[in-house]
This record gives sequence, structure tokens and C-alpha cells, in this order.
Amino acid sequence: MGRVEQRVSVSLKERSYDIVIKPGLIDELGMRLQSLASTERIAIVTDRHVGRYYLRTVVGQCRQAGLRPVSIVLPPGEKNKTLTTVGKILDVLAKERFERKSLLMALGGGVVGDVTGFAAAIYQRGIPFVQVPTTLVAQVDSSVGGKTGVDHRLGKNLIGAFHQPEAVWIDTTLLRTLPKREWIAGLAEVIKYGIIADSKLFSHLERKMPAILKLEPQAVMQIVKRSCEIKAQVVAEDERESDRRRILNYGHTIGHALEALGGYRSLIHGEAVGIGLVLEADLARHQGYCDLKTVDRIRSIVRSAGLSDRLTSSSLKKVWAAMQHDKKVSQGKVVGVWPSAIGQVRIAPLERATFAEWFHTVSAGGRGRSK
Ligand SMILES: NC(=O)c1ccc[n+]([C@@H]2O[C@H](COP(=O)([O-])OP(=O)(O)OC[C@H]3O[C@@H](n4cnc5c(N)ncnc54)[C@H](O)[C@@H]3O)[C@@H](O)[C@H]2O)c1
Ligand SMILES: [Zn+2]
Repeated sequence: MGRVEQRVSVSLKERSYDIVIKPGLIDELGMRLQSLASTERIAIVTDRHVGRYYLRTVVGQCRQAGLRPVSIVLPPGEKNKTLTTVGKILDVLAKERFERKSLLMALGGGVVGDVTGFAAAIYQRGIPFVQVPTTLVAQVDSSVGGKTGVDHRLGKNLIGAFHQPEAVWIDTTLLRTLPKREWIAGLAEVIKYGIIADSKLFSHLERKMPAILKLEPQAVMQIVKRSCEIKAQVVAEDERESDRRRILNYGHTIGHALEALGGYRSLIHGEAVGIGLVLEADLARHQGYCDLKTVDRIRSIVRSAGLSDRLTSSSLKKVWAAMQHDKKVSQGKVVGVWPSAIGQVRIAPLERATFAEWFHTVSAGGRGRSK
């Protein structure tokens, strides 16, 4: 059941590529690599958690395809998304005499994908890489779109490059070993796609959440595919994030602020985004962009996924200050993405006074706070 391959094309002229989604795809990687690799050198970059489950299979597949793989196993976690880690990858590539046509494979979540993509972007001014994403966040978001990079002590994702992969190969069965917390956090991004672009996806999530939470193969395939389609479409319209791509930032203005205020420890990214989806919807309602029913539907779906919609006790000043630090803020202006209905958003600046007024209603136990 569900062994049918799904394809989503990312149309970026000469940099176009396909996302292939198929349960069990990991056992066919060799065949796929054969049709892609133009030399026998490949480096598989993964982290310890993912490596424990899947590295042996992937190495076997590479060998079967006649490739000579080197494995680079990184320590897991966001704290390792650094230039130092990229340096370690580059050291191996140089030592192994990798060339312009050699291939990198990112086997892991968004952290592995971002560092591997960045290493591929800068080694010899750019070598090809493929993404084999293993978290829900990576399958529906980070592996698609070509943004690569690392964190800096003074800011998340501060250093990076656009570098598109040759292919994205998604095996949804790999999600079975993902810790539940990570799985649920990824659902925030899927919900986001429904709100910004697809009311049908949103209704589907409302109906199918129990099946999705049980990881039913068909239900998972469907949400991964639809999310990839939406991201691919937005990216194709605006590869370098001038305007249209901003809509992907819905839930992230407040989300990023909460994530930063929690020191990237108390809330993981998707959890912060889940709260951001609800609060930004309520802020949209406060500005007259959408009605209460829209906010309530967003709040309900976020809760049904097992995500929190609760505002942490951070003060207004801290949240606003953290919002200013987002690198998408230009010239001190916070530009928000506001739902006008499910499936539709508009982009508009947010004044501090408006934010403050709204924040007081939330802090006073108004609509923004969970009951
Ligand atoms: N490039 C982009 O466009 C983009 C978009 C969204 C997020 N991101 C980045 O992605 C990162 C977050 O990615 P993430 O949420 O995938 O986190 P992650 O890569 O840290 O993975 C989460 C945890 O799950 C483990 N794991 C991964 N796959 C597993 C599996 N199949 N089974 C068991 N354990 C597994 C990892 O080892 C890690 O401990 C952030 O750094 C964020 O900035 C980038
Ligand atoms: Zn996100």
C-alpha cells in the first residue's frame, strides 16, 4: 500500500529538479544515484541519530551503484549548525580529493541539510548535492528551496548561500523513527501551508489529523506531497526571496522571537511556529484583516496537532525586541504576513503601537491566550 512514487517539480530554469516522494525509497537510492552521479565519489553527511538507523543502508546502496562513499557523521543538534562543522566537512572533501563533479548527500534533518548544502555551495565554488530528508520539517520545508547555511553566535542562519540540490529524495517511512516531539513540531509547517495557500489542505488536516498523528502512510504521503508542491511553487515564483516568498514566513515573526527568547532550548522551531501561527492570526484579526472564525479554526487545528497555542510569559518589550532581530526585518520595520481567510494571506507592515495594543489584550487574558 502506498508504494506509488509521487513527483513534484521545482521549476528554476537550468537549476530545475524533481522531488521524489516514495515510501521505501531508501532501498532504491543506488538506482537513483546511478542516473545522477557523474563520478564515483560521494560523501554522505548525516548525524549520529540518523546514521544509527540508516547509514548502513545508504552506504550499501551507494556501493551497489558503483560509487565509493565516504561517510561524515556529525554530532546532532542545532548547536552544531556552525562554520566549524562546515569546516570539518570541507576538510574531509579536500583530504579525499573531491572534485567539481563529486557529489554530497545530506541524509538527515534540516540541520544536516543546511550545513551539507552550504558545504556543497562553497567547496570549489559549488559542487552538486542531493537531499535525503529524514524529519518532517526537512521533508516539507528545509530540503526544498535551496537555502543553505549555518548559525552565527550573533544570529541564527546568519551565514549562508542559495544552492539548489540536484534532487530531493523523500522516503516517508523514515519518519517512523523520528521522536514524537520532532514529528509534531513539523506539523506546524504543514498547517502553515494550508493557511497561506490552500484551504483544501487545511480542511484535509482538520478531517485527517487523527490519521496523520498515527502516521498512516497514505495520510502522511498526502501532506508531504501537498506541502512540497506549495513550497516548490512559491520558491519557483521567487527563488531569492524578494516578495512572494515572504508568505512562507507566516507564523515565524513571532515564532522566531519566541524561539530566540527560549534560548533555542525551551521551544524547538516548529513548536514556536505553532504558537506564532495562532498569535499572528489573532494579530491579523486585531488589525481587521480576518474574522474571529478564522482565528478559531487556526487555534483548533494547532491544538489538535498537539502543539501549544500558549503565549509564554515573555514581556512585550522582549518579544518586540526579539522581533526586530529577525533578519527579515528591514530598516527597523517588522513586516508581517496576515491571513485574510484560510488559504489567503496579505503582507503588511506592523506598527509597534498596534502590536502593543494587541499584546495588552493578550496579556490581560484576551483572545491570544489559551484557556
Ligand atoms: N533551509 C531552509 O529553507 C530551512 C527551512 C526550515 C528549517 N530550516 C532549518 O532546519 C533546522 C531544523 O531542522 P529539523 O527540525 O529537521 O531538526 P534537526 O535536523 O535538528 O533534527 C531533529 C532531531 O531529529 C533527529 N532525527 C532526524 N531524522 C530522524 C529520524 N528519521 N529518526 C530519528 N531521529 C531523527 C536528529 O538527529 C535531531 O536530533 C533548523 O536549523 C532550521 O533553521 C531550514
Ligand atoms: Zn519554519
